[in-house]
Amino acid sequence: MNVAIVVAAGKGTRLGGNRPKQFLELDGIPVIFHTLRQFERCREIDEVVAVLPAEETAGFQSLAQQFGLRKLSRVIAGGDTRAQSVQRGLTSITEADIVAVHDGVRPFVTPEEIDQVVAAARKSGGAILVARIAETIKEIKDGRVVRTLARAQLRRALTPQCFRFDILKLAYDQLAEVEREGIEVTDDSLLVERLGVEIVAVEGSARNIKITQEEDLVLGEALLRSVVL
Ligand code: CTP
Ligand code: MG
Repeated sequence: MNVAIVVAAGKGTRLGGNRPKQFLELDGIPVIFHTLRQFERCREIDEVVAVLPAEETAGFQSLAQQFGLRKLSRVIAGGDTRAQSVQRGLTSITEADIVAVHDGVRPFVTPEEIDQVVAAARKSGGAILVARIAETIKEIKDGRVVRTLARAQLRRALTPQCFRFDILKLAYDQLAEVEREGIEVTDDSLLVERLGVEIVAVEGSARNIKITQEEDLVLGEALLRSVVL
């Protein structure tokens, strides 16, 4: 059995607005439901755990039912950081083969991409979705260029990121220590990499944007309307 943790407990401070971005609507439907729908449509995920702001958990399950989301098994209150929200979701899981972690604000992931990453993780222990980089990336210090990174080798880390349940649990055992060191745990792979586990990179589509700033809502509406989706 494979379980997805969809984290949507953030405040969306970069985007602003009255409500966190995961509850803003694209084409009349909240972003989080667009995202959960992709998990409903994929084959490899049996059960979904949604992690939400504490004040948003009440009533979410019944609303989800109205949207036809039958895989949603639990709604859990999130933590202060993304990683702490993932950890809360993870703690609620007692049994699973593969656990897929996904950002609730990435509604354009496809069911096929989810299935591919889960399947890759089943073979290798861990797999993440990535995308190529269009721009040249510079390392900057004190407003000056330090060096140019080799673009051909660089990828953007997307989600889902999928791991064997036992591996992900071991990875998250390090969380408190890593956060104490002042390291910002911006994805799950970072913690698994520290275990020395080999993680397969699955090439995904650049359409799988993370809704982060206001212009991403405009881009999101356009992506929804484009025929190739
Ligand atoms: N997230 C979470 N719990 C947190 C922080 C983030 O579940 N304490 C989730 C967000 O809801 C989002 C994903 O992690 O789905 C990626 O985080 P990000 O894009 O940074 O969202 P926010 O933290 O909400 O936005 P911002 O950083 O602008 O405040
Ligand atoms: Mg954030």
